[in-house]
Amino acid sequence: MKVGLLVGREQSFPQAFIEKINAMNVGLTAEYVKLGGVTTIDAREYRLILDRISHEIPFYRAFLKTAVLNGIIVVNNPFWWSADDKFFGTALAERLGVAVPKTVLLPQKEYKEGVVAESLRNLMYPLDWQRIIEYVGLPAILKPYDGGGWKHVYRVDSLDELLWYYDQTGQLCMMLQEFIQFEKYVRCYCIGRKKVLVMKYDPTKPYLQGQYEPLGDYIDQALHDRIVRDCITLCEALGYDINTLEFAIRDGVPYAIDFMNPAPDADYFSVGETHYTWFLDAVAEMVVEYAHRGQPTLKNHRWSEFLNASVAVGRD
Ligand SMILES: Nc1ncnc2c1ncn2[C@@H]1O[C@H](COP(=O)(O)OP(=O)(O)O)[C@@H](O)[C@H]1O
Ligand SMILES: [Mg+2]
Repeated sequence: MKVGLLVGREQSFPQAFIEKINAMNVGLTAEYVKLGGVTTIDAREYRLILDRISHEIPFYRAFLKTAVLNGIIVVNNPFWWSADDKFFGTALAERLGVAVPKTVLLPQKEYKEGVVAESLRNLMYPLDWQRIIEYVGLPAILKPYDGGGWKHVYRVDSLDELLWYYDQTGQLCMMLQEFIQFEKYVRCYCIGRKKVLVMKYDPTKPYLQGQYEPLGDYIDQALHDRIVRDCITLCEALGYDINTLEFAIRDGVPYAIDFMNPAPDADYFSVGETHYTWFLDAVAEMVVEYAHRGQPTLKNHRWSEFLNASVAVGRD
């Protein structure tokens, strides 16, 4: 059986993953997927495809969705990844008993060409900024509802600042969120919706400058257990097999800040050797297990119930 990997420019993880799977001798070989123009039935030779980059390459995402139709296990599920957003995630987390910052979804500042005032008759204008600020409190964080990589994330300390940043956001759909004045901060890998590694993380440091540290006795056992439970709850509900989840801890309560990282940072020089090795091992073990015992990703979709029927119709 074959495992395929779709990657971006990251250096450490992909090659190590391929070598590890190939060295495991468990009836699996791993390789980079190579794609040109794809047909509707391509890529059937793969049992599983591990996707690290389709959020940046729509062609890959479209290919992966059809790969699911063709019975391939795709990690992470490309349908849910396409549908997910941070506002929905926050609302879902709240329903599931996971602590989250108070959050308001905002109408966009601008719209694509052709959308005119008449197209926007369902929107209130002007927005009641005072009420929004009162609900969320100050300071607050203004960030995209489906962003990543800290792009367009702004801390605002006043209404004037909020309006100034909002005016720069163009067509992005933004949300305003209570700023959690944290005493501690952690990032967690969650693999296969069951294995969790909690890492000490300093968001005030720049990338590759020692953001990650071993946990040590940074948090007590009860808090650790709650964070692990929250990670599994969220990943089970969202259906992510690989994810990084961030928590800001205030007054001992872990607030889930960002749990939509389905292609998480796994760079050796960023996360450090211990965390990197844990991630590599956990992902490899999960992939082997899924390849041998996993269900095709298509089982999660309504349309899969119609497949046999439509094949039969086609034959008539
Ligand atoms: N509500 C919040 N309270 C405190 N800090 C926040 C909050 N939201 C975001 N941050 C800070 O901003 C960083 C980037 O925001 P995040 O939601 O993770 O976006 P991205 O997906 O771009 O990484 C977080 O790592 C955190 O340090
Ligand atoms: Mg983040």
